[in-house]
Amino acid sequence: MSNGIPKHVAIIMDGNGRWATRQGKKRTEGHYAGYKRLKKTALYILSKGVKYLSVFAFSTENFKRSEEEVSYLMNLFVKAFKSDKNFFVKNDIKVVFSGRDKPLSDEVLNVMDEIEKSTENCKKGVFNFCINYGGQSEMVDAAKKLAEDYKNNNIDLDKIDTEEFYKYLYNDLPPVDLMIRTSGEIRISNFMLYSIAYAELYFTETCFPDFDEKEFDKALESYQHRNITKGSIK
Ligand code: IPE
Ligand code: IPE
Ligand code: MG
Repeated sequence: MSNGIPKHVAIIMDGNGRWATRQGKKRTEGHYAGYKRLKKTALYILSKGVKYLSVFAFSTENFKRSEEEVSYLMNLFVKAFKSDKNFFVKNDIKVVFSGRDKPLSDEVLNVMDEIEKSTENCKKGVFNFCINYGGQSEMVDAAKKLAEDYKNNNIDLDKIDTEEFYKYLYNDLPPVDLMIRTSGEIRISNFMLYSIAYAELYFTETCFPDFDEKEFDKALESYQHRNITKGSIK
């Protein structure tokens, strides 16, 4: 029995700092290694037939880290989204972002905007980057959008159900089928709280910079042999 390929995979890319510290390197070197790993592993995941890939790149809480680490990560986003625009276009991957704008800088918001526009017609898969993202904030923001629509007489409240509510999230993506967290932490850390309602969870000790094709195959293998019910009897 096999469950086939999950349509939507989400990854909490954790452990960059520990990966670096264990080798006597600076934490920021771990973030760079994580970025390089992401490009390779993401292409592999999409080549397997996964249509939606969501990655946790920076949480709202991550702004509490040192000024040095936060500014390194912000610069990395700017450089990466500038230099990888063609990478995404060439591989036919549509890039979208989830998270709040504030307090991201205009420079970061502009490169995000540019890459979203350049890839909006790409068809092979959707890459959802969660930057300045928090799951509770996403639900609060969704509730506010809904209230705004109601105030403007744009919705019939009786038609709002759990399916319809997805349209109010940062992006209207299908529910997550498989959620992976690297580096041994066994918690959700406020990631995609609405969309993981029935996701299969997979935790690995491997830190994100080492999460390669073989590591993804292990997660997939585990997923494919689960007894997935989504509430029905199996
Ligand atoms: C995940 O790695 C990347 C970000 C949060 C940006 P960490 O930086 O959390 O690495 P650890 O957990 O400290 O090892
Ligand atoms: C979650 O990792 C956020 C990202 C991977 C971007 P953290 O390292 O920030 O989460 P906690 O603090 O261990 O819960
Ligand atoms: Mg961490």
